[in-house]
Amino acid sequence: MSVTARAARISDAEAIASIYNEGIADRIATFETEPRTAEQITGWFDGRYPIVVVEDGGGTVVAFASCSNYRSRDCYAGIAEFSVYVGRRHRGAGVGHVAMTALVEVATAVGFCKLISRVFPENGASLALMARMGFREVGTYRRHGKLNGQWRDCVIVERLLGEAAAV
Ligand SMILES: CC(C)(COP(=O)(O)OP(=O)(O)OC[C@H]1O[C@@H](n2cnc3c(N)ncnc32)[C@H](O)[C@@H]1OP(=O)(O)O)[C@@H](O)C(=O)NCCC(=O)NCCS
Repeated sequence: MSVTARAARISDAEAIASIYNEGIADRIATFETEPRTAEQITGWFDGRYPIVVVEDGGGTVVAFASCSNYRSRDCYAGIAEFSVYVGRRHRGAGVGHVAMTALVEVATAVGFCKLISRVFPENGASLALMARMGFREVGTYRRHGKLNGQWRDCVIVERLLGEAAAV
Protein backbone atom coordinates (compact mmCIF):
# COMPACT_ATOMS: atom_id res chain seq x y z
CA MET A 1 0.00 0.00 0.00
CA SER A 2 1.35 3.41 -0.90
CA VAL A 3 0.83 5.91 1.91
CA THR A 4 1.71 9.54 2.54
CA ALA A 5 1.91 11.63 5.68
CA ARG A 6 0.65 15.19 6.00
CA ALA A 7 -0.22 17.68 8.72
CA ALA A 8 -3.59 16.88 10.26
CA ARG A 9 -6.55 19.19 9.77
CA ILE A 10 -9.57 19.69 12.02
CA SER A 11 -11.62 17.94 9.34
CA ASP A 12 -9.62 14.76 10.17
CA ALA A 13 -11.03 14.68 13.72
CA GLU A 14 -13.63 12.03 12.90
CA ALA A 15 -11.06 9.70 11.33
CA ILE A 16 -8.59 10.28 14.17
CA ALA A 17 -11.27 9.50 16.77
CA SER A 18 -12.20 6.31 14.99
CA ILE A 19 -8.56 5.10 14.82
CA TYR A 20 -7.90 6.11 18.43
CA ASN A 21 -11.05 4.30 19.58
CA GLU A 22 -9.82 1.07 18.00
CA GLY A 23 -6.59 1.42 20.01
CA ILE A 24 -8.55 2.15 23.19
CA ALA A 25 -10.77 -0.89 22.62
CA ASP A 26 -7.76 -3.14 22.05
CA ARG A 27 -6.46 -2.40 25.58
CA ILE A 28 -2.85 -2.68 24.36
CA ALA A 29 -1.87 0.94 23.97
CA THR A 30 -3.33 3.18 26.67
CA PHE A 31 -4.92 3.35 30.11
CA GLU A 32 -7.83 5.17 28.47
CA THR A 33 -11.04 3.12 28.35
CA GLU A 34 -13.64 5.67 27.22
CA PRO A 35 -14.05 6.22 23.49
CA ARG A 36 -13.40 9.73 22.18
CA THR A 37 -15.71 11.84 20.05
CA ALA A 38 -14.57 13.88 17.06
CA GLU A 39 -15.46 16.98 19.05
CA GLN A 40 -13.00 15.99 21.79
CA ILE A 41 -10.28 15.41 19.19
CA THR A 42 -10.92 18.89 17.82
CA GLY A 43 -9.60 20.21 21.14
CA TRP A 44 -6.15 18.74 20.30
CA PHE A 45 -5.73 21.36 17.56
CA ASP A 46 -4.36 24.17 19.70
CA GLY A 47 -1.65 25.22 17.25
CA ARG A 48 1.21 24.34 19.60
CA TYR A 49 1.47 20.57 19.29
CA PRO A 50 2.00 18.88 15.92
CA ILE A 51 -0.44 16.26 14.69
CA VAL A 52 0.14 14.27 11.50
CA VAL A 53 -2.02 11.78 9.66
CA VAL A 54 -1.17 9.10 7.13
CA GLU A 55 -3.41 8.64 4.09
CA ASP A 56 -3.69 5.64 1.84
CA GLY A 57 -3.60 6.07 -1.94
CA GLY A 58 -7.31 6.92 -1.97
CA GLY A 59 -6.99 9.73 0.55
CA THR A 60 -8.41 7.75 3.49
CA VAL A 61 -6.76 8.50 6.83
CA VAL A 62 -5.31 5.23 8.18
CA ALA A 63 -3.11 6.47 11.05
CA PHE A 64 -2.16 9.47 13.11
CA ALA A 65 0.66 10.56 15.39
CA SER A 66 0.25 13.47 17.77
CA CYS A 67 2.13 15.48 20.35
CA SER A 68 0.72 16.84 23.57
CA ASN A 69 1.77 18.65 26.70
CA TYR A 70 4.35 16.94 28.94
CA ARG A 71 4.53 19.32 31.94
CA SER A 72 3.52 22.92 32.43
CA ARG A 73 6.83 24.06 34.03
CA ASP A 74 8.86 26.34 31.74
CA CYS A 75 11.99 24.16 31.96
CA TYR A 76 10.10 21.34 30.22
CA ALA A 77 8.68 23.48 27.41
CA GLY A 78 10.87 21.71 24.82
CA ILE A 79 9.48 18.28 25.68
CA ALA A 80 6.36 16.81 24.12
CA GLU A 81 4.59 13.55 24.80
CA PHE A 82 3.46 11.67 21.73
CA SER A 83 1.03 8.98 20.64
CA VAL A 84 0.83 6.96 17.45
CA TYR A 85 -2.12 4.88 16.32
CA VAL A 86 -2.63 2.89 13.15
CA GLY A 87 -6.08 1.63 12.15
CA ARG A 88 -6.40 -2.11 12.87
CA ARG A 89 -6.55 -3.17 9.25
CA HIS A 90 -3.33 -1.34 8.41
CA ARG A 91 -1.02 -2.36 11.24
CA GLY A 92 2.25 -4.17 10.56
CA ALA A 93 2.68 -2.67 7.09
CA GLY A 94 5.07 0.18 7.84
CA VAL A 95 2.38 2.83 8.38
CA GLY A 96 3.39 3.53 11.99
CA HIS A 97 6.93 4.17 10.79
CA VAL A 98 5.67 6.67 8.21
CA ALA A 99 3.57 8.45 10.87
CA MET A 100 6.43 8.64 13.38
CA THR A 101 8.94 9.78 10.78
CA ALA A 102 6.62 12.66 9.88
CA LEU A 103 5.93 13.53 13.52
CA VAL A 104 9.64 13.60 14.42
CA GLU A 105 10.30 15.82 11.41
CA VAL A 106 7.64 18.39 12.25
CA ALA A 107 8.34 18.32 16.02
CA THR A 108 12.00 19.03 15.26
CA ALA A 109 11.09 21.79 12.80
CA VAL A 110 8.92 23.62 15.33
CA GLY A 111 11.66 23.45 17.96
CA PHE A 112 10.88 20.59 20.33
CA CYS A 113 14.05 19.07 21.82
CA LYS A 114 12.64 15.77 23.04
CA LEU A 115 9.75 13.38 22.46
CA ILE A 116 8.73 10.98 25.18
CA SER A 117 6.07 8.35 25.69
CA ARG A 118 5.17 5.40 27.84
CA VAL A 119 4.57 1.99 26.31
CA PHE A 120 3.12 -1.15 27.87
CA PRO A 121 5.89 -3.82 27.92
CA GLU A 122 3.43 -6.23 26.23
CA ASN A 123 3.07 -3.88 23.23
CA GLY A 124 5.71 -5.52 21.05
CA ALA A 125 4.73 -3.61 17.91
CA SER A 126 5.09 -0.25 19.63
CA LEU A 127 8.41 -1.14 21.28
CA ALA A 128 9.74 -2.38 17.93
CA LEU A 129 8.59 0.80 16.21
CA MET A 130 10.20 2.98 18.89
CA ALA A 131 13.49 1.07 18.61
CA ARG A 132 13.41 1.41 14.83
CA MET A 133 12.78 5.16 15.21
CA GLY A 134 15.82 5.64 17.45
CA PHE A 135 14.01 5.96 20.77
CA ARG A 136 15.90 4.95 23.89
CA GLU A 137 14.25 2.87 26.61
CA VAL A 138 14.82 4.94 29.76
CA GLY A 139 13.43 2.38 32.17
CA THR A 140 10.23 0.81 33.36
CA TYR A 141 7.68 2.26 35.71
CA ARG A 142 6.33 -0.61 37.76
CA ARG A 143 2.60 -0.74 38.46
CA HIS A 144 2.10 2.67 36.89
CA GLY A 145 -1.66 2.40 36.67
CA LYS A 146 -4.53 -0.06 36.51
CA LEU A 147 -6.25 -1.10 33.30
CA ASN A 148 -9.41 -3.14 33.75
CA GLY A 149 -8.44 -3.55 37.40
CA GLN A 150 -4.99 -4.98 36.65
CA TRP A 151 -1.70 -3.22 37.44
CA ARG A 152 0.31 -2.43 34.35
CA ASP A 153 3.96 -1.46 33.96
CA CYS A 154 5.10 1.18 31.46
CA VAL A 155 8.35 1.42 29.53
CA ILE A 156 9.47 5.06 29.22
CA VAL A 157 10.92 5.95 25.81
CA GLU A 158 12.64 9.14 24.73
CA ARG A 159 14.31 10.60 21.65
CA LEU A 160 16.31 13.81 21.59
CA LEU A 161 15.69 16.15 18.66
CA GLY A 162 17.50 18.99 16.93
CA GLU A 163 20.15 20.82 18.92
CA ALA A 164 19.65 18.57 21.96
CA ALA A 165 20.46 15.53 19.82
CA ALA A 166 23.58 17.15 18.42
CA VAL A 167 25.50 17.54 21.70
C1 LIG B 1 2.19 0.26 17.52
C2 LIG B 1 1.82 0.69 16.09
C3 LIG B 1 1.65 2.21 16.06
C4 LIG B 1 2.97 0.29 15.16
O1 LIG B 1 2.63 0.70 13.86
P1 LIG B 1 2.67 -0.36 12.66
O2 LIG B 1 2.31 0.33 11.43
O3 LIG B 1 1.84 -1.53 13.06
O4 LIG B 1 4.22 -0.76 12.69
P2 LIG B 1 5.20 -0.85 11.44
O5 LIG B 1 4.60 -1.75 10.41
O6 LIG B 1 5.59 0.54 11.01
O7 LIG B 1 6.43 -1.61 12.07
C5 LIG B 1 7.37 -0.95 12.89
C6 LIG B 1 8.30 -1.98 13.44
O8 LIG B 1 7.59 -2.80 14.37
C7 LIG B 1 7.67 -4.18 13.99
N1 LIG B 1 6.39 -4.76 14.31
C8 LIG B 1 5.20 -4.44 13.75
N2 LIG B 1 4.22 -5.17 14.33
C9 LIG B 1 4.84 -5.94 15.27
C10 LIG B 1 4.36 -6.88 16.22
N3 LIG B 1 3.04 -7.15 16.32
N4 LIG B 1 5.25 -7.47 17.05
C11 LIG B 1 6.57 -7.17 16.97
N5 LIG B 1 7.08 -6.28 16.09
C12 LIG B 1 6.21 -5.67 15.26
C13 LIG B 1 7.95 -4.17 12.52
O9 LIG B 1 8.61 -5.34 12.11
C14 LIG B 1 8.83 -2.96 12.40
O10 LIG B 1 10.16 -3.25 12.80
P3 LIG B 1 11.33 -3.26 11.73
O11 LIG B 1 11.22 -1.96 11.01
O12 LIG B 1 12.55 -3.38 12.58
O13 LIG B 1 11.02 -4.42 10.86
C15 LIG B 1 0.50 0.02 15.60
O14 LIG B 1 0.67 -1.37 15.60
C16 LIG B 1 -0.71 0.41 16.42
O15 LIG B 1 -1.36 1.40 16.11
N6 LIG B 1 -1.03 -0.38 17.47
C17 LIG B 1 -2.16 -0.07 18.33
C18 LIG B 1 -1.99 1.28 19.02
C19 LIG B 1 -0.66 1.37 19.76
O16 LIG B 1 -0.20 0.42 20.36
N7 LIG B 1 -0.06 2.57 19.71
C20 LIG B 1 1.17 2.84 20.40
C21 LIG B 1 0.86 3.38 21.77
S1 LIG B 1 2.33 3.47 22.76
